[in-house]
Amino acid sequence: MFQRRCAACHTLDGSNRVGPSLQGVVGREAGTAEGFRYSGAMEDSGLTWDAEMLVQYLENPRDMVPGTRMVLRLPDEEDRRNVVEFLSTQ
Ligand code: HEC
Repeated sequence: MFQRRCAACHTLDGSNRVGPSLQGVVGREAGTAEGFRYSGAMEDSGLTWDAEMLVQYLENPRDMVPGTRMVLRLPDEEDRRNVVEFLSTQ
């Protein structure tokens, strides 16, 4: 799932692409990957990602963070749970 839907924009090795590195994102404050230029919306969101929030975020990022530059949506809850479970191991 990650390779197919996320890896075009995100790495897991600390480097940033179109999107910030998602290494260690579960438990991280939103908008704080080192060296990545976030939208003001993400930077000011005040969120700290936990697994449940990420599952919700991925359904429609703009619902949780209006104005975010990430537009990909995962409508299927099982897909969302799978990818978040994977991210929590990274
Ligand atoms: C087309 C590019 C693109 C794709 C595909 C994409 N993202 Fe993103 N993502 C972004 C961008 C750009 C941001 C930064 C958003 C901002 O600054 O508002 C982001 C931000 C995020 C964040 C917040 C990170 C942080 O440091 O606060 C998470 C979590 C995230 N993406 C997860 C995912 C997952 C999981 C997938 C695959 C299901 C995915 N993204 C697919 C572009 C993408």
